Amino acid sequence: MNLDGVYQLRRLLFLLGFPLLVGCSNEQSEELAASEAVYNTQLDTQQIMSLVLEPASDILWDSAGWVMDAAGYEDLYPTTDEGWDFVRAQAAIVVESGNMLALPGRAEDNDAWMIYSEGLSEAGLLAMKAAAEQNEEDFFQAGAQLYSVCTACHQAYNPDINSRFVDGSSQ
Ligand code: HEC
Repeated sequence: MNLDGVYQLRRLLFLLGFPLLVGCSNEQSEELAASEAVYNTQLDTQQIMSLVLEPASDILWDSAGWVMDAAGYEDLYPTTDEGWDFVRAQAAIVVESGNMLALPGRAEDNDAWMIYSEGLSEAGLLAMKAAAEQNEEDFFQAGAQLYSVCTACHQAYNPDINSRFVDGSSQ
């Protein structure tokens, strides 16, 4: 084997071996985390929804867009730095709610549930960024994305929630 061949072989071993090593150490640290971690999951999904996630999301939706009623046109976006800081904090609650729902003991499976939970966090992060930039258009889009994650997960896991949900938010 010439030098080039040795180099290729080492490269190959490196490519094959490195992911294996990474795989091993990840597995070990995951096992460690699972055995040591203590989560308090006394609140059930219904309570997370009604006490944590929905109040925060409602504030986001009530702070985006505009309404036209008898009193005329009303812009809903925050108009002060404090107002934007407040909605940014609500968006942070949404980000973390994604993690809360994904905790062992809460997650209903290791599949679509996790994707929807992550989707919540992603929409929340978009809303946080838009609020930090005071970007109304992006903030509105983040709210729309958030809404689609809520309804997709309800459709998959508790279809009768969607009808109640729509009723509730149109009041
Ligand atoms: C990962 C899945 C998932 C996501 C994402 C999700 N929900 Fe839910 N939600 C559920 C499930 C499951 C229930 C039914 C809980 C029960 O009654 O046991 C529920 C129930 C609810 C309820 C009814 C609570 C009650 O008092 O009975 C509301 C309101 C609600 N969700 C709001 C939201 C909002 C708002 C969002 C998005 C910002 C959202 N949910 C996102 C899974 C999800």
